[in-house]
Amino acid sequence: MPRTTQAVLGIDVGTTAVKAMLVGGDGSVLADAEVEQSVSIPRPGWAEQRPDMWWRNTGLAVRKALRLAERNGYHIEVAAVGLSGQMHSSVFLDGDGEIIRPALLWNDARTAPQRRHITDMLGLRRLHDTVGNLPLEGFTAPKLLWLKQNEPDNYASLRALLLPKDYIRYRLSGDYATEPSDAAGTLFYDVRRRVWSKPMLDALDADMGILPRVVESTEISGVVTPGAADELGIASGVPIVGGGADNAAGAVGCGVVSEGVMQASIGTSGAVVLPVSEPFVAADMSLHTFCHCAPGLWYLMGVVLSAGSALRWLRDTVAPDMSYDALTAEAGRVAPGSDGLLFLPYLSGERTPHNDANARGVFFGLSLAHGRGHLTRAVIEGVCFAMRDSLEIMRAQGGLPSEARAIGGGARSRLWLQTLANVFGLPIATARPAGGAAYGAALLAAVGIGMFGSIDDAARTCIKPGTSVEPDASSVAQYDEMYDAYRQLYPALRDNFAALAGITAGRRQ
Ligand code: XUL
Repeated sequence: MPRTTQAVLGIDVGTTAVKAMLVGGDGSVLADAEVEQSVSIPRPGWAEQRPDMWWRNTGLAVRKALRLAERNGYHIEVAAVGLSGQMHSSVFLDGDGEIIRPALLWNDARTAPQRRHITDMLGLRRLHDTVGNLPLEGFTAPKLLWLKQNEPDNYASLRALLLPKDYIRYRLSGDYATEPSDAAGTLFYDVRRRVWSKPMLDALDADMGILPRVVESTEISGVVTPGAADELGIASGVPIVGGGADNAAGAVGCGVVSEGVMQASIGTSGAVVLPVSEPFVAADMSLHTFCHCAPGLWYLMGVVLSAGSALRWLRDTVAPDMSYDALTAEAGRVAPGSDGLLFLPYLSGERTPHNDANARGVFFGLSLAHGRGHLTRAVIEGVCFAMRDSLEIMRAQGGLPSEARAIGGGARSRLWLQTLANVFGLPIATARPAGGAAYGAALLAAVGIGMFGSIDDAARTCIKPGTSVEPDASSVAQYDEMYDAYRQLYPALRDNFAALAGITAGRRQ
């Protein structure tokens, strides 16, 4: 007979899956489930998903988690819901709350002209002083401008602009709300003052009324409606907290909630996240400065657009029938350095440090001696080198903690962890439970209903050290040399990437 147990529910609307996690009062994971989903790529460099698919998959994932919990002996009463999800992706709703068109995702690069337009209009100085971030293609504001310039009818019917997890909130409770960590990634938010930025809205002639209200990450934004409760299989009236953007909630979920620790996330994207207690914005804005989930905390972040997705692409393309375990086991038999093969993981352009939507993936140094294992190993090494680019900026801007915590699918693989430790020259540890952003969202919900006094308290109580991997001195030295060679490739190829993009665009017209 299952035992009736209270739990908080964390939901993460990822790119490749929606995850649902049920977490008990002591921080243990009682059950979790995910439902995979695909991305539509109508053209190279574009990426879209339908928000109603996220909602459907949320329902499936939550019901699956509840069933699993039942099988594990728990009859769950959900006490609160925490939300997390992919950042920046734009949900466009009309006056009836209906979806106007598919969402443009965080890795959609069609907005290069809009990005240039915003940069030219405001100038770097003003961007620095208002929103504290560069207008990159993936961010939400250029997407709004794209809609205005390319789909004027859709723009005319737009009444609400939401982020993915906040669309789920809307379907759960009927409320339009977000919180600072996701608001920060829109480019409409003044990250220092933690309010919507009027200068930015005015510059784009955008109406403040389309943006949701902002609550704190641990504040209750609304409650689950009876209709949504039926769809998910939980009770109505359950409170929903603000939650956090996936990188911020992921940091909460592995205890990266204060200065002195850092996070390396290898999911669909790769992100290096460094919490800071002041909203530091470098003059060149080479890193993103975003709000963390606690009110007096921010984080600096560098993002690799294709991390786990580069390995997924390789598997789907050259070895669709192989499991990731088999693929990485084969790569593990190749020596570090992949016998001179380098990979640039810029499959959907690149964010940090190049901010170049035209950049593309490259295998460099291929020979007849290279096989599939080399390709796989080079992809993993290339993603780690790309993440090191962000680490080097952080080092130059003021130093690094002595250890990084790894999360995401990559953190489950010994080869990814060891390669990251060797390329970073730092110990890499995982956290237990390894719940990622869904776990972080669940902890935010637990804080929101008073199960813990603060985010710090929740992290200290619930998160334990997992595996720890030390860098291996001889591989570190070898990877330092390989990294130097890697760094030289992008500047040498930048003009070729642009020329190729021009040719491809010309053919399409
Ligand atoms: C962060 C970013 C990605 C997405 C992935 O700026 O664009 O990490 O959040 O979900």
